[in-house]
Amino acid sequence: PRVIYITRHGESEDNSAGRIGGDTGLSPNGERYAKALARFIDRRRLEFTAEVDEQNHRLEMFMASGTSSGNNSEPESVSSHSSNQSIDYSSLRLKVKPDFEIWTSMLKRTMETVEHFDPQKYRIKNIRSLNEIYAGRCEGMTYEEIATQFPEEFEARQLDKFYYRYPGIGGESYADVVLRLQQVIVELERIRHSVLLVTHRAMARTLLSYFMDIPTTHMPDMELPLGYVYSCEPRPFGNFLRVWRYNT
Ligand code: F6P
Repeated sequence: PRVIYITRHGESEDNSAGRIGGDTGLSPNGERYAKALARFIDRRRLEFTAEVDEQNHRLEMFMASGTSSGNNSEPESVSSHSSNQSIDYSSLRLKVKPDFEIWTSMLKRTMETVEHFDPQKYRIKNIRSLNEIYAGRCEGMTYEEIATQFPEEFEARQLDKFYYRYPGIGGESYADVVLRLQQVIVELERIRHSVLLVTHRAMARTLLSYFMDIPTTHMPDMELPLGYVYSCEPRPFGNFLRVWRYNT
């Protein structure tokens, strides 16, 4: 069992000025979120391990009672009885992998958001493909500035936000971002341990829409404010989503 946590970085200086893109560091609010996030994930990890231990315990009791020819003996007596047999129940336990990775983008605001995690307990990776959608010529502008300086661009984006590509070298659309994230998603599906992704608004929308099967027509408009943590737990028939909000 494992969990995939997704969150946006803490508030950046650009966020508080209403500017998109850029590479500013955290504001004092963002810094507070960074500290709270490390405490929250530390605690969730312990709680999750306890939940899995509980499942292991139930699984062991279930398996043990299966060998006791139907009688409901106490687990202790059953396990001493079963130790004479060839099946080693401990090898059948669901193992909690101690590994827990944190993936950030290569922009300052996500890297600063994970500064309070203990590097002894978490493996941290910085991945360029998790960088925010690149707004080309509109980088560093507010939405109001875009609407007055590039009214046609602004309108085109409103009309088809998924396929609209920002003007200028490297400008991206949501469709481009989906392609850029494909390798990240393949790797997320491949590994077996828990991961916290500390990323950006467009990236979090793309990742959540993948895990929760949200159609691309809705995805670019999903409300994903700062200060929320989403967790996806794989279950037999899809992912189980939980949402936590940071109380300022
Ligand atoms: O404002 C924060 C931000 O992450 C920008 O850097 C980015 O361009 C934007 O959100 C993405 O959201 P939307 O696609 O709704 O403009």
